[in-house]
Amino acid sequence: MDKPKLLSVDQAKLLTHSEISTIFCNHLNPGQFHFLKLLGFDKIVIDAAEGMYYHERSGRKILDFFGGFGAVAVGHNHPAILSMRWKFQQENRHEIAIAFMSQYAAALARNLSLLSPGDLDFVFLGTSGSEVNEAALKLAEKVQGPDRSKIAYADHSFHGKTRGSLSVTDSWLYRSGFQLLSNTQSIAFGDILALEKAFKEDPSIGILILETVQGGAGIILPPAGYWKQVRKLCDEYKVLWIADEVQCGMARTGKFFAFEHEEVVPDMVTLAKSLGGAKTAMAAMISRKPIFLAGYGSSANSLIHGPATFSGMGEACCTAIETLHIINDEGLAENSALQGTYLIEQLKGLQQRYPGILKEVRGQGLMIGLEFQDLSKTLRAGFSKLIAPLDERLRGSVCGMVGSLLFSNYDILVAFTEYNRNVIRLEPPLIVTREQVDFFVHSLGEILDRGIALIIADYLRKRVASWSFS
Ligand SMILES: Cc1ncc(COP(=O)(O)O)c(C=O)c1O
Repeated sequence: MDKPKLLSVDQAKLLTHSEISTIFCNHLNPGQFHFLKLLGFDKIVIDAAEGMYYHERSGRKILDFFGGFGAVAVGHNHPAILSMRWKFQQENRHEIAIAFMSQYAAALARNLSLLSPGDLDFVFLGTSGSEVNEAALKLAEKVQGPDRSKIAYADHSFHGKTRGSLSVTDSWLYRSGFQLLSNTQSIAFGDILALEKAFKEDPSIGILILETVQGGAGIILPPAGYWKQVRKLCDEYKVLWIADEVQCGMARTGKFFAFEHEEVVPDMVTLAKSLGGAKTAMAAMISRKPIFLAGYGSSANSLIHGPATFSGMGEACCTAIETLHIINDEGLAENSALQGTYLIEQLKGLQQRYPGILKEVRGQGLMIGLEFQDLSKTLRAGFSKLIAPLDERLRGSVCGMVGSLLFSNYDILVAFTEYNRNVIRLEPPLIVTREQVDFFVHSLGEILDRGIALIIADYLRKRVASWSFS
């Protein structure tokens, strides 16, 4: 039999958008292609990325206000990361370290423990947010034992798509059709009384997992003081608190961990996304010393959830080490707080000018949600009544059109949101400058200034034009 004609890397680099589309539909995800097409992304091929920008093959530069849902803190292809990786390769350093102790994993674990408050000292390394959330849930269950293994989680939470993480992810869409953990209970996010009631009524709840800032829910912050009260309740009821900072950690909200705004220490915290420096897959679960030792401290227990094959790969650990240095050396937490506060202020100004289209602006640092009105509310009275029954089905249409125009007319990329489809998520790299923030606000202001009728017309014109030339 002839050997299959495998594509080479050089051939992959040269694939056209229509060749990629065909492969995407035949071998990756035909359903997802539908959404890419709606946004006009089926015609986009990115050949490079640098700092705040993606570089399209046509030469167009796209300003990244999406930031890979929080995965690009230090920007794309940071030169310090590139040169560290180049040197690491030139020196023929080893990658798979499962047989030996790794000096790179050791240094990364030490750095993470130094950056973490209190006795958050023990580090489990993984490759995805879902994986480290699994690790946290398992460690908590091991420590609490079967009688206290019930997990409380928040409504509209997102913790990942592997089975354990999915069991505490509040998405009907992602969950339906799967057998999940049954010992879980959903509670209202940010409602301390609801949490206390749950702890009081059900002593089998021994584990609590919460995003410190909810991302998929549409950038939701709990009321001020909530985390202090969570810590107090968890101490009182002896519940282990896992802070999921996969998206909101790594300086995104203006502090390295978002829970540091309230000077509290959870029992475990998970990081992923930006820990990989926008260059590799790296994730970590950091636990308080007594908890780690209670679960896996003995030699008999040490390998129960020990490293997986790809935990702590050499170059990935070094990339994470370099990323932590960049965040410190370049003052990215400070820049996130500075630019984020300014951006939120400017966006609130736009919201006050266009309340009929833009409903709310919220966030912390450079983790910002722009909630748009339902389509019917943006229309004049007569049309509004007609469209109102379709609002549920059309949810996301206004922010979809605005996002699409930001992309086509201003070369700005933004993100959308899983649960509240009316929300645009802004999570630009933390290196963003004042000029780039001003450009974003100016561009969004120009779009909103046109009013909804022209927004719809412009969007449709762009879509039809792109279809007719495909
Ligand atoms: C808060 C949060 N937790 C967990 C995850 C899952 O991470 P991953 O996609 O790396 O498995 C995500 C991903 O978006 C997330 O935002």
